[in-house]
Amino acid sequence: MSNLPYHIPVLLQPCIDGLDINPDGVYVDLTFGGGGHSKEILKHLSAKGKLFSFDQDEDAKANIPDDKRLTFIPHNFRYISNYLKLYGITQVDGILGDLGVSSHQFDKGERGFSTRFDADLDMRMNQKSDLTAKKVLNTYDVKKLTAMFREYGEVDNAFRLANIILKLEQMAALKQLLSLKK
Ligand SMILES: C[S@@+](CC[C@H](N)C(=O)[O-])C[C@H]1O[C@@H](n2cnc3c(N)ncnc32)[C@H](O)[C@@H]1O
Repeated sequence: MSNLPYHIPVLLQPCIDGLDINPDGVYVDLTFGGGGHSKEILKHLSAKGKLFSFDQDEDAKANIPDDKRLTFIPHNFRYISNYLKLYGITQVDGILGDLGVSSHQFDKGERGFSTRFDADLDMRMNQKSDLTAKKVLNTYDVKKLTAMFREYGEVDNAFRLANIILKLEQMAALKQLLSLKK
């Protein structure tokens, strides 16, 4: 497990080609992760260039290179305009977003993203948030679960899935109750 790379950046060269980097420019990596894309962007920047990289996952901090041109922002990239304002940036030359989950998040059992491990359903990208997937399943009613699966998971049978999950939860609770009574 520990020998696994944090994340192998996808489409690295096409992304760099697409950014068409101006060496003195200002760039934003919305999803730093293992820093694969960020490190490649830095290689193309001069001493004047700047890179702002976001990641809300605490674990990503372990991958930050020691480079003065990089500012790591450990927050959700939805706050991009606030943070760029804070750093006095009014214009950028390029923004990269490698959306989704990093391999590290799948490979670390306790993060609760993968069925390969026996762990609680967690699935938080931001470990400071207290809303785990387990909490969602245990507290959302059928309406909220259906809306979540439909809107964010694009699940066709969202209502059916929500009902099955709630029924399984009730069965598990009943099983636990019966085993306590023995
Ligand atoms: C596919 S990985 C990026 C991998 C990265 N390009 C590399 O080369 O290693 C996506 C990363 O984005 C982060 N992430 C996802 N949504 C985010 C958000 N809204 N704000 C900040 N980070 C986010 C995740 O924590 C994850 O580390």
